[in-house]
Amino acid sequence: MTLLTKSCTPFDGQKPGTSGLRKKTRVFMQPDYVECFVQSIFNAIDGVDDKTLVIGGDGRYFNAEAIQTILRMASANGAMRAIVGQGGLLSTPAASNLIRKRKADGGLILSASHNPGGIDEDFGLKYNIANGGPAPEAITNRIFEETKTISEYKTLDTGDLALDQIGETSLGGMTVEIVDPVAEYAALMEELFDFDAIRALFAGGFTMRFDAMHAVTGPYAKAILEGTLGAPEGTVLNGVPSVDFGKGHPDPNPIWAKPLVDLVMSEDGPDFAAASDGDGDRNMILGQGIYVTPSDSLAVLAANAHLAPGYDRGIAGVARSMPTSRACDRVAEALAVECFETPTGWKFFGNLLDAGRVTLCGEESAGTGSDHVREKDGLWAVLLWLNILAARKMPVRNILIDHWQTYGRNYYSRHDYEAVDSTAANGLMNDLTANLDSLAGQSFASCTVASADEFSYHDPVDGSVSHNQGIRIDFEGGGRAVLRLSGTGTEGATLRVYLERYEPRDGDLAIETQTALKDIAAAVAEITGLVERTGRTAPDVMT
Ligand code: G6P
Ligand code: ZN
Repeated sequence: MTLLTKSCTPFDGQKPGTSGLRKKTRVFMQPDYVECFVQSIFNAIDGVDDKTLVIGGDGRYFNAEAIQTILRMASANGAMRAIVGQGGLLSTPAASNLIRKRKADGGLILSASHNPGGIDEDFGLKYNIANGGPAPEAITNRIFEETKTISEYKTLDTGDLALDQIGETSLGGMTVEIVDPVAEYAALMEELFDFDAIRALFAGGFTMRFDAMHAVTGPYAKAILEGTLGAPEGTVLNGVPSVDFGKGHPDPNPIWAKPLVDLVMSEDGPDFAAASDGDGDRNMILGQGIYVTPSDSLAVLAANAHLAPGYDRGIAGVARSMPTSRACDRVAEALAVECFETPTGWKFFGNLLDAGRVTLCGEESAGTGSDHVREKDGLWAVLLWLNILAARKMPVRNILIDHWQTYGRNYYSRHDYEAVDSTAANGLMNDLTANLDSLAGQSFASCTVASADEFSYHDPVDGSVSHNQGIRIDFEGGGRAVLRLSGTGTEGATLRVYLERYEPRDGDLAIETQTALKDIAAAVAEITGLVERTGRTAPDVMT
């Protein structure tokens, strides 16, 4: 086997976004495209000589091919060891856990998360650092700089390695260790949660459906829920990962997981249902007859985490992304722990978790997690819910009602306007930003603006500042609207409008969500000229 140094020319636009580099699969399939990006990562982290890397992905189309390329390059660049999930599979949280448990120097995760997979769909690649979390901006910026000037990469002239056999092999001077993708992760879950109580719950006839959406969590959910916890076979739906996710859109929300939502809304639906996304870091929680918003889920988990053995000493604090509802803030206040508001993107939680300032964090975009790894974790959220249901012995609906009666209810919805003309979307945001200072005191659609600003985040741990993280408009009476442009879309611009209204615990806690938020939505439309600018009279998606 020969070490090769090949020359290459830089590709435009290899800029890691909110969560690594995401492009159409065919873009990644161009000759040298993966190679240029991977060598840029290696260069940006001062090489991988003698390092240990964790490598795996969500199993989508091109996963296996990209892993072979990365392995050859890691070996040629002098890496000591590559820990690879069997068959090239690793959920994002499981990869994060492996990096931490095995004290690896970093990891390469292949995924485009909840975006569809296939030759005409999406692919992605990101680098995680030694704490198991996504590389912070300082590193992703360095990677991007490298991609602009890359002129050669190192690889081996060798064939593909078999990735389906657990055990060690060598590739050049590097050891390749193929591991069971589930084992270490399942062991961690067993440490955190009261598996006996959850087992007893299932043994008592409690019914659940977990929709793995043909994506990576299938094997994890089958092993943990149907295996260790004794849930009946058939609890896990769509549990075999496929390269195109069964031609579906593996995003666990009421739109893309509609069959599951319909199931729990039917009279003979299961007690509890959940779904996860392509790479296993997102989650959706449902109870019989009820959908739990991700923001409410975070608040309920924060209020009840102490019921799980892994959190029985209480939580240090909680963090949420800025557009996430402020339901968890009220729990933090009651628990007298710190609460942080960070920009959108899981990477902003890393410092707070590393510093021990927060134990739980979450985002409206269906992400919840804790300090057990440095990624959000779909199945973890499901297991924490199960632990709470087992401890409190009441239905999901009653847990929520009880929560609202204790803390009040933050009615919440996100309205998405997808594939909007980029110029129109940018114009809307720019003009809104320019007018922010004049909004306070003015009334729109019966709502009076109390304050409005553009969100900047001052990281309390490393002192870094991130500007332009979205616009906040607070209304008198506790309502709020947030606007930002999506950082993950692949077509035109996606405008996200996040609506929130607080109702105190003795207020009306049973209003239909969109009705509760109607006035705030109308105020946003009036303030921004939404309809005229976007040409849309209604959002494409409401979550
Ligand atoms: C990814 C990140 C999340 C983030 C989300 C925002 O999923 O992992 O941390 O919340 O993107 O997506 P958006 O499309 O709103 O920028
Ligand atoms: Zn994901």
